Amino acid sequence: MVTGSTGQLGNAVVARARAEGWEITGLSRREPDPCDLTDATAVRDRVSAARPDLVVHAAAWTDVDGCEVDPGRARAANVDATRHVAEASAAVGAHLVYVSTDYVYDGTKDGPYVESDEPAPLSVYGRSKLAGERLLGPEATVVRTSWLCGRHGANAARTILRLGAGTGPLRFVDDQVGRPTIAEDLAALLLRLGTDRVAGIVHGSNEGAVTWYQFAREVLELAGHDPDRVEPIRTSDLRPARAAPRPANSVLAPTVLDALGYDRLPHHRESLPGLVADLLAQAG
Ligand SMILES: NC(=O)c1ccc[n+]([C@@H]2O[C@H](COP(=O)([O-])OP(=O)(O)OC[C@H]3O[C@@H](n4cnc5c(N)ncnc54)[C@H](OP(=O)(O)O)[C@@H]3O)[C@@H](O)[C@H]2O)c1
Repeated sequence: MVTGSTGQLGNAVVARARAEGWEITGLSRREPDPCDLTDATAVRDRVSAARPDLVVHAAAWTDVDGCEVDPGRARAANVDATRHVAEASAAVGAHLVYVSTDYVYDGTKDGPYVESDEPAPLSVYGRSKLAGERLLGPEATVVRTSWLCGRHGANAARTILRLGAGTGPLRFVDDQVGRPTIAEDLAALLLRLGTDRVAGIVHGSNEGAVTWYQFAREVLELAGHDPDRVEPIRTSDLRPARAAPRPANSVLAPTVLDALGYDRLPHHRESLPGLVADLLAQAG
């Protein structure tokens, strides 16, 4: 079972699981079978009817600035919904993979974060995702990922391509560093971790740390645009200023994957050309 199956990552997990031969039930708010995860009874009914072996909980309210101004909605979507999914999964003996975020860290560390580093989220979104982690049992898999870009929904790569196709200025911050992660790469890892029932926190990001400015240059170049059109700015220069603070450094080191003997996810530059080609094709 995949929650948030209509979202960016959920779509990729469903597609990957189908390709691997899994029988899949997607939970989403869309017709014909809408399920709002904030409704505990609805979640319990759907999970007990499907009796999944594995639940990948990819649903969340991911509007980081929206969460900052509406903490009640953030709590309902990211904490209460996670409790409902966890309780319903436990009731049928399903293993739970919870997708969490680099925004649980405050970004002040000098160097990449490892899974044992103390989280200290700066934003309501980060705090709500951490609260979701902390209500899970020790057997759940918690995968912290970062800077997701996939073939469905809104993401930075799509925004960069849209701006690149226009003639306006392109300004991207050069003082936030992280690991762009391709949703389709992460989807395969989530299924493997879930199948192996790996317990605890795992960092799951593609290799390769960049700033948003550097990432925008890479995407533009792949699309055949002039990367020199991108102007580096500081976060403090963003107008209007964002409601939610972001960590300056959210580079995630995959130390648990290494210890488990799993392959690391590939460098994002290996997967980015295919993603950019598909996004350009979608845009026509
Ligand atoms: N995007 C990133 O850069 C990033 C980075 C690190 C971690 N993550 C985590 O990765 C996961 C996937 O993110 P994403 O980029 O795929 O997000 P997304 O595209 O915004 O998808 C989120 C999905 O959750 C669903 N959802 C939200 N509230 C719901 C509710 N109350 N009931 C049912 N469904 C609900 C949404 O459905 P509707 O379409 O109906 O709203 C949507 O399908 C999330 O857990 C997120 O916290 C994301």
